[in-house]
Amino acid sequence: MELKIDREVGIETLEQLENSCFKGDVYTKEQLEDILSHKELYKIIAVERDGKVVAYAIIFDNSVSLEIMKIATLKEYRKQGLGALIIKELSKYGKDIFLEVRETNEMAIKFYHENGFVDIGKRKHYYSDTGEAAILMEKKYLSI
Ligand SMILES: CC(C)(COP(=O)(O)OP(=O)(O)OC[C@H]1O[C@@H](n2cnc3c(N)ncnc32)[C@H](O)[C@@H]1OP(=O)(O)O)[C@@H](O)C(=O)NCCC(=O)NCCS
Repeated sequence: MELKIDREVGIETLEQLENSCFKGDVYTKEQLEDILSHKELYKIIAVERDGKVVAYAIIFDNSVSLEIMKIATLKEYRKQGLGALIIKELSKYGKDIFLEVRETNEMAIKFYHENGFVDIGKRKHYYSDTGEAAILMEKKYLSI
């Protein structure tokens, strides 16, 4: 297994991962191009197995804190600790980490809680497609 930090993950790879891992909330090609072209703002963390990227995260780095924009593992590689590996890697940056998650995404909420995130707020009717709320979470650097 290989962990790749800020590596050149091609746009095609990211597009495939997005489409495989998310039903809605898929970044468009233009959004991904924008992310890849702003290396000073976005980190891509990718985990390779069997010669391909099987888990990844897109991180917004505002220099004070990190925000997890996306984190996902291909279905057939889930529950093997790859998501936790990415969070552990992020913790090395020494910054507080924030994220928003759909209130119905129980799998992700459980995963985040197990990896040290705590709820810090809720934005009602945040997602326009379903009207769901967003749960806001934080993992403080000092609590790591
Ligand atoms: C949330 C997500 C990224 C977690 O990724 P993952 O690689 O499966 O994460 P982990 O393997 O570290 O942890 C997941 C679970 O597997 C368990 N696990 C980890 N290693 C394990 C092992 N070797 N054997 C059995 N279970 C294991 C963890 O304890 C955890 O248990 P839980 O289901 O009780 O919470 C993944 O489920 C996913 O891609 N979901 C769809 C995309 C999504 O919703 N992303 C979040 C919003 S952006």
